[in-house]
Amino acid sequence: MPRPPGSRTPLSRTAGARRTAPLRRALALALALPLAAAGQLTDPPPAAASDNGLSIRPAMGWSSWSFVRRWPTEAKIKAQADAMLSSGLKDKGYIHINLDDFYQKCDANGFIVDDYGRWAVDEKKFPSGIKALADYIHDKGLKFGFYVTPGIAKNAVTRNTPIEGTPYRAKDIADTSKQEKNYNCKNMYYIDYSKPGSQEFVNSWARQFASWGVDYLKIDGVGSHDIPDVRAWDKALRATGRPINYALSNNLAIADAPTWRQLANSWRTQGDVECYCGPGPNGSGYPLTDWGHITSRFTSAANWQQYAGPGGWNDLDSLQIGNGDQVGLTADQRRSHLTLWAMAASPLLLGTDLTALNTTDTAMLTNERLIAVNQDGVAAKRIVNSGAKQVWSKREADGDHVIALFNTGASGNQTVSVTWAQAGFTGTAQVTDLWSGRDGGAVADSYSVTLRPGETRLIRAAPAAGNTVRHEAENASYTAGSTVDSNHGGFSGSGFVNTPNAVGSSVEWTVESASARSAPVTVRYANGTAQGRPMDVSVNGTVVAAGRAFDSTGTWTNWTDATLTVPLQAGANTIRVSATTANGAPNLDYLDRG
Ligand code: GCU
Repeated sequence: MPRPPGSRTPLSRTAGARRTAPLRRALALALALPLAAAGQLTDPPPAAASDNGLSIRPAMGWSSWSFVRRWPTEAKIKAQADAMLSSGLKDKGYIHINLDDFYQKCDANGFIVDDYGRWAVDEKKFPSGIKALADYIHDKGLKFGFYVTPGIAKNAVTRNTPIEGTPYRAKDIADTSKQEKNYNCKNMYYIDYSKPGSQEFVNSWARQFASWGVDYLKIDGVGSHDIPDVRAWDKALRATGRPINYALSNNLAIADAPTWRQLANSWRTQGDVECYCGPGPNGSGYPLTDWGHITSRFTSAANWQQYAGPGGWNDLDSLQIGNGDQVGLTADQRRSHLTLWAMAASPLLLGTDLTALNTTDTAMLTNERLIAVNQDGVAAKRIVNSGAKQVWSKREADGDHVIALFNTGASGNQTVSVTWAQAGFTGTAQVTDLWSGRDGGAVADSYSVTLRPGETRLIRAAPAAGNTVRHEAENASYTAGSTVDSNHGGFSGSGFVNTPNAVGSSVEWTVESASARSAPVTVRYANGTAQGRPMDVSVNGTVVAAGRAFDSTGTWTNWTDATLTVPLQAGANTIRVSATTANGAPNLDYLDRG
């Protein structure tokens, strides 16, 4: 059956193979296999992350592009590194200092290259060389990031430069019929990766970067036609033996998200956040951005949500916070900007001038409650999207829910509301306002706030002990051939799971429990046929209710609760329902863990 947009990839299950969900994930990562290859039910995230072991949490730091733009120099980059320390930002985890484009030099034919065909550094801008700059940054306990784009320079081909350590030359590997995207000196030919010497060329470039002390590499101008380059750079970076955080840019195609996730540690989900509307050349200078460039990220963050996870992140682009209103955003809008980036678990790479930080913005950037939301490793889902009203929610590993409410409008107050059920639990929660740190007390059932245009409210909601936690079936693992449907109303969440009508059709939820105990569980289902659809209920691989009845509910829109008590261990548990007859499973809406 076709895979509905936004649902997990349903994968088939290998007979006899039973492992706990975290172990499956760990094994898939360790073996560098997509979960599909492991033949297991799915777990979020849907595709395996890069196994290069890097960026287990989203990167935090600074990039030269937004503020320094086309005029980076050794002195300017050092000054930003100094300011990272003196501002206190480094102590909060902002450790990357990334030099972006325009460190190179061009002639009329594009990039000037070194003796092995790699971009030469402009020594007027960087008189001491890149290694000296990286050393300076490392001495401060910071990490150094660098920049490249796919392909090989025309000047390398014209000079037919040798490929370091090989008998091959630039002409052996260049495809001069096509030019790669490049925003600076241009004139980059495609590399033909079927040619001997092609991988070695990229390896030689990566070796040079590693020898200079590069810790983070942004490869820019990447499109889906560049997947061979993305693979080659991944191999080349690994071959250096140096841990180099690997970032893809910009405006990557979501259709190839599993590939980006497998190969890299982050990928830009859209074009630039800069407005290019400043008074300087090419729209440089303040303002760096505008509210429209921030609000356009909400939908892409929602669309890409499922692809973020440890080792690979959706990069919403640089954070334009640090220099007050002149960046092009009000203080309310800047707080919303950081809130969305934190909720989406996007890298936090500042684009502003760290040598001119204002105190309001430094307070925003050093708010440890916000940083913790970004670094929890969970990308939030959008659960309300109604005009200017948006609500985003995520559940952290300890069971707390973090909920962000936004008024994305440019004018007019909005009252934005969310029910705890929408966030996935019921009852009462202890609420903390994460921007102010204020204790919001015990709040029952729902939360509502009136927000100014561009304003946000970010809360942590800790459900009271014993609260019910809802797990939608569409977010669980399910048998291959299942679909997430919405054609029979009355369901909760975004749909229900319709599995194939066959013995063994199943849905498996992963639920947490604070302690080992007997817990009440409710499975909500509909069975519009006249026949029963019995299922085995298993917990952590052991059947606890064989052939439990899931009788006719009369119609497919008559959703009914099946309740039972199951033994849970402390921590993660799997609860699976599996059809025992050829009638298959009923339509499944959710599991509530009491
Ligand atoms: C119908 C119904 C589906 C259901 C299916 C079934 O096609 O519309 O929602 O899953 O029957 O028998 O399982």
